[in-house]
Amino acid sequence: MWLTSSSIGRKLIMAVTGACLVLFVTFHVLMNAVAILWPGAYNQICAFLGANWYALIASAGLGALFVLHIIYALWLTLQNRKARGNNRYAVTSTPKSVEWSSKNMLVLGIVVLAFLAVHMIQFWYKMQWQEIWGHWYSIDGVTVPAAAGTLFIHLAFQSWWTPVVYIIGFIALWFHMNHGFWSMFQSTGWNNTCWLPRLKKIASAWTTIVIGLFTVQALWFTYEAKSGTYLNDIKLNDQYLEMYNKEFQKEAMEIQQNAPNQFDPKAQAEIEAAQLKTLRSIKAFAPKAFLKLGIPAEYLEEAEKDNTAAEETAVEPEVSDESDSVAIEVNQEEPANN
Ligand code: HEM
Repeated sequence: MWLTSSSIGRKLIMAVTGACLVLFVTFHVLMNAVAILWPGAYNQICAFLGANWYALIASAGLGALFVLHIIYALWLTLQNRKARGNNRYAVTSTPKSVEWSSKNMLVLGIVVLAFLAVHMIQFWYKMQWQEIWGHWYSIDGVTVPAAAGTLFIHLAFQSWWTPVVYIIGFIALWFHMNHGFWSMFQSTGWNNTCWLPRLKKIASAWTTIVIGLFTVQALWFTYEAKSGTYLNDIKLNDQYLEMYNKEFQKEAMEIQQNAPNQFDPKAQAEIEAAQLKTLRSIKAFAPKAFLKLGIPAEYLEEAEKDNTAAEETAVEPEVSDESDSVAIEVNQEEPANN
């Protein structure tokens, strides 16, 4: 096929996948801006995108774009090296017109890829991947709602090394994107002497704005994570509580549906354990909402002890009566979004 057998065809694939990735990072930087301006609305978008079929198809498409872009980049690099043969290192003086980034596209791409690996572990793996498997990301026995994007930002940017790794990634991305942007026009034949300098300027401006915004955002999120804004904001706490409440109701219903009868002690104990885990998670990640629930301080401690004792002795846990359990109620007084 022409797209794979000819060098022009391969370059065209690089250009088209590159253009789609430029559009993606532009969309992404705008999404991050929503997280800064309206964090509640950002979480609603995360909930909407979540792990539904459309979002999964979009993510798979995006993954395919990255994979194609990388495979073709390696292919073209190998092809160029082969064409130059052993004389690859023979040239000692480089023509001025050959830019530094042009010669280092592969290395820059590898640095961007390393940043992406860290980034995917911090976000995608903890959000969408967990949701695909029907659960939430769990840390020290407490869970984080998959749609609480602001909480994942809080967790990621709490580490000192996150902004460092991101800024290194952004610098590499600036050079990579800047060069890739205008060279894709060159590959597609749009390279007359009048337009090429203009395209170079447009590429430079677009890349600088996008990467500049990413950098400001990384610094902003670091500041917010260190100040605990996303953990303590009252409206966000109500939103997290609503997510926890919904998830607990769903879990309790599933346990109940699989139980032989409504009063099955095993199912009751499972529901109590799920409730305890939910309350512990609310205490950790929605501390202000937890206070509003008005749960007596001793309740969690007592319940925790009962739970551990039941697990240790492996005896069928005792089923407490209604008055012992605490209902998780969502405070609906204020709207959830900011
Ligand atoms: C300050 C900088 C950034 C922040 C705070 C950030 C934040 C996030 C968050 C919260 C998600 C998960 C969203 C969701 O699954 O709904 C995400 C996903 C993602 N990010 Fe970033 N991001 C940043 C920069 C970047 C850059 C520079 C790139 C590309 C080079 C990138 C590539 C991706 C990709 C590929 C995904 C997965 C998208 C998907 O699941 O379909 N991010 N990012």
